[in-house]
Order: sequence, then C-alpha cells, then structure tokens
Amino acid sequence: MGSELPLFPVQASSIAPTVDHLLYFLLAVAAFFSVGIFLCIFYFAIRYRRRSESEMPIPIEGSVSLEILWSVIPFGLTMIMFVWGANVFFTMSRPPDDAQQIYVVAKQWMWKLQHTEGQREINELHIPVGQAVKLTMTSEDVIHSFFVPAFRTKSDVLPGRYTTTWFTPTKPGKYHLFCAEFCGTNHSAMIGWVYAMEPQEYQAWLSGGAEGSLASTGEKLFQDLACANCHHLTDQGRCPNLRNVFGSQVQLSDGTMVKADEAYVRESILNPSAKIVAGYQNIMPTFQGLVTEEGVLQLVEYIKSLSPKPGVQQPAAAAAKPSKK
Ligand code: CUA
Repeated sequence: MGSELPLFPVQASSIAPTVDHLLYFLLAVAAFFSVGIFLCIFYFAIRYRRRSESEMPIPIEGSVSLEILWSVIPFGLTMIMFVWGANVFFTMSRPPDDAQQIYVVAKQWMWKLQHTEGQREINELHIPVGQAVKLTMTSEDVIHSFFVPAFRTKSDVLPGRYTTTWFTPTKPGKYHLFCAEFCGTNHSAMIGWVYAMEPQEYQAWLSGGAEGSLASTGEKLFQDLACANCHHLTDQGRCPNLRNVFGSQVQLSDGTMVKADEAYVRESILNPSAKIVAGYQNIMPTFQGLVTEEGVLQLVEYIKSLSPKPGVQQPAAAAAKPSKK
C-alpha cells in the first residue's frame, strides 16, 4: 500500500470484488446521466435561446414515444440494480456451512472476540486466509456496527439479540476494523485490527495460550451456575435434557414449534419463561445479570457441542461426557 492514498480499500475478501463491481456500475450509471443531463442543459440553453424581444416559442404537444423511452430505460436500469444488489445481499446473509464460528461482543468502547478453540481477543481478530468465517455478534449496551472496509463487511451489532455476518479473507494482511455506528463519546476510538494469516501461521497462533475450548469454558460455567442440578443430560431431570437439542425443532407448551438456534438458547437463559418446552414447568429462574453476554455465548457453544453434527469432529470438551449428577 505504501503512502499513496488509494481510492478504494484493498479487496481482501471473496465478496469484495462483487461489491465493488456493483458500486462501479452504480457510479457509471450516475456519471453517464449526470454528464448527459448537463450537456443537454448547455446545448438547449444555447440552441433554443430567445433571439428577439418579439419571439414567441412554438407550443409543444408532447411525445408518447419519448415518454415511454424515459420511463422504460430507468425502470430497466433500476431493476438491474435491485436484482444485482439483492443477489449480493443474499450472498452476504448466508454463511456457508463450513464457516468457522467466531463470537463478537461489542461494548462501549471495545470489541471482544472469542474463538471456539478458546482464544479470546480484544480489538484484534486473527483469522486464516481462504477459510469462511461466520461472526455471531451481540452488544452489551448500545448499537454498534462491525465494519471491515477491506472485506466490504458492515453489520450492525445490537443489544439483546444476535446478528451474523461472514466473509472469506483472500489476502494475508492487517486490516482496519471500525465501529460504524455512533455509540457515544469514544465511538471513534472503537477500532481495531483484523489479521488475516496463512493457515499454518494461524494454526501456530491458535496453539498458543488458550485456557480450553469455548465449549469447555461453557461447560464449566454450566456447572458453576448449577444449571446441571436441573438439566441432567438424561431425560430424568426436572428440566429439558439438553443433549441433541441444538439445531432441532422444539415443541413448546403452547403447541408451537421453535428451532433451537443461538437466539433461542440465549433467550432461554436470560428470559426462561418466554418459551416453555412442552411437558415442563415454568420453574427456571432468569440468569439476567448473573452471566455476561460472553458467558451466554460460551454456554451456547457448550450446548451446541452436546449436539454433534453427524460426521463433524467436535473440538475438545467432547460432546459425549455423561453427567455425574
Ligand atoms: Cu461502537 Cu461506535
């Protein structure tokens, strides 16, 4: 990069060229019509200027073919923008199945990132090149926005719910991470760096100094909060057996079904009476205030590990450890 001032940030993710091509198209259309309209204004102003005090302009009756033309062409152009833009949007909204999971918690004024392998970072994110990365994000206070210009990724981070985004870094390097939503006094200081590393380097980085996988940290938290007193990992407990729950459809007491995803697990921890599983009592206390958003994500990861995907190897804290209680 050096000292030059690039017009566009580097394209460092698989989606970046796609986003840029759409932008170039929008710019080209806007430039073409801006220039065309200005040229017409100057031309008409001179060509049809009033030449004498007594001159009376000829009345114009309008032209159907011209009106159709200037309706159909902009309609076609805007439909191209719409379909193209929607296509890019859907691509960015759907993380691939093999994406590596990273958890993000924003707060005034920092980014806290957790890897499933256990590494935790602040205002820094290390990821491997060539691997899709899915971020599951939430905020402890106000709305923030996770913005990496080199990846063309910008996604709001909201308190009280999870949002997701994903990207595949394509170039090793160090890229700016910004908060792109005004979030108070030190909003402008809520910045950091994303390090896209070669896979071997990333593996080396990963193997240094983690205190156990996120799922095992979550399992410890599960014990510390005494969740296991009710949630036995068998069907004998007073509360639902959490084995093989994640990703499944859960039957609720009001007859509806809900998919057990990250948001469902989070709600069940912080607002347990919102959705009662069919056949169980509304006896669970809320853990609001007792567990941080980071802790909730660790619990989510633990509960995920109790539902191993067929054929997928689970990291550490292996799924199938029978409860001692
Ligand atoms: Cu966080 Cu602006």
